[in-house]
Amino acid sequence: MDLEQLKFEIIRLGKSLVYNLFVLLKTSKNYQEGHSAMNTPIKKILKTVKEIHQKKEDASLMLKGGYILLSENRLKADAAGFEAFNFIMGEMKRYYIGSINFTSIASEKDLAKLPYIFNELDPIPSPQTFQKFLEKMKSKKIQGIEVEMLSEDESIQEEDVTDNKAKSKKVYSQTIHAASEVMVNVKMGQTLKLRKSKRAIQSMIDQMLTAETILIGLTTIRCHDEYTYNHSVNVCILSLAIGQRMGLSKASLCDLGMTALFHDIGKSDVPLEILNKPSNFTVDEWEIMKRHPVYGVKLLMQLKGLDNLNARIVTGAFEHHLNYDLSGYPNVKYKKELSLFGKIISIADCYDGMTSSRVYSRVPMSPDKALKLMMDKAGKVYDPVLMKLFVNSIGVYPVGSLVLLSSRELAVVMQNNSDPTKWDTPKIKIIGDPSGREVESDIFDLSSAGHGKTIAKTIDPEKYKIDVTKYFT
Ligand SMILES: [Fe+2]
Ligand SMILES: [Fe+2]
Repeated sequence: MDLEQLKFEIIRLGKSLVYNLFVLLKTSKNYQEGHSAMNTPIKKILKTVKEIHQKKEDASLMLKGGYILLSENRLKADAAGFEAFNFIMGEMKRYYIGSINFTSIASEKDLAKLPYIFNELDPIPSPQTFQKFLEKMKSKKIQGIEVEMLSEDESIQEEDVTDNKAKSKKVYSQTIHAASEVMVNVKMGQTLKLRKSKRAIQSMIDQMLTAETILIGLTTIRCHDEYTYNHSVNVCILSLAIGQRMGLSKASLCDLGMTALFHDIGKSDVPLEILNKPSNFTVDEWEIMKRHPVYGVKLLMQLKGLDNLNARIVTGAFEHHLNYDLSGYPNVKYKKELSLFGKIISIADCYDGMTSSRVYSRVPMSPDKALKLMMDKAGKVYDPVLMKLFVNSIGVYPVGSLVLLSSRELAVVMQNNSDPTKWDTPKIKIIGDPSGREVESDIFDLSSAGHGKTIAKTIDPEKYKIDVTKYFT
């Protein structure tokens, strides 16, 4: 068996362990200790544990970073196992358990008693609860199962595990933090270390796979003070959304995310008076501003060793203001076609730039207006195929658009319909009734039958002074 196969096997066994433990705990809620209904899950657990040991791995389930790990292998729930995963993760957190290890001497008796500790103790996540759990294990003479306390790091993520919104926000701020650290270091002339950013991007890609719409929703956040960081993370999310639709591998997505995150790093060499100027740029200021891609390249050349990733980051920073037809800036005789990452980032960058109130223009454009404008330039400024994928990711009525319904109600687009033929019926939240009074409905699927509501037109949030961000945070 090669390594890849072995890993696959271990993960399969880990999932089976989680599932059978779930069945055991659930069954114990309805049956007394020693009831025959418990036999099947107990036997299955012991069989799985034995098989894991035969593979020379520990049969230890551990919570880490919001996941369950079986000896360093992250177990991912598939649709069928989702409930079991959530349940086990929740129970471990509630009793402040960081890991459960089934040793080679774990017996049927041990497993028959274990579930009742959960039932006897109040699930208050605290070290004291864990202490009580240990004492109960001792008094019940459970010897083949070991538990360890939850680390502080994991306990902080209490909310995150079941709540994708909180988790997305956490990933977003982690990435902001990592990016800002790199940019601050670059300003101080220190060597660039990208390890933290890489980890943040990896979590972001994982989060993208489960909660893409929430992440895209977060790109509507416009924090003026930290504009550059927010912009970088937004561009990163939007680029990943395109990359994912192209079917890029996880490793390529990681490179793309990193390239996007640092596309504007050259702005740290543009004087702050220009960068933060509240009015329009003069011609000279524009000239300086337009140098940021080249400044970026200079800064990024400090990266240790020009490996594949570093080369991509440098290219991305250089190319992101060059257009599909090779117009744009820096003004160089570019003979070849732009790199894939350059083309993706240029789309994500323009969209975020236009819909925010910072870069180049002081008034943000509504998402649908920006998108229309960009679509008109597909084939000239933007790669037409990538542009299609972009529209596909954010929708014709992009997440965050304000729309007027045929019922004269005002609504915010929360999520796009995954079926592309239903592009005109996104999921929305009604925020104003026909008389203009503020309301807040639950998320409402326009594609569901019987309500008769359609989108009449999009509305500029600037005109109505409505901040749609609050519906996403
Ligand atoms: Fe830029
Ligand atoms: Fe940018």
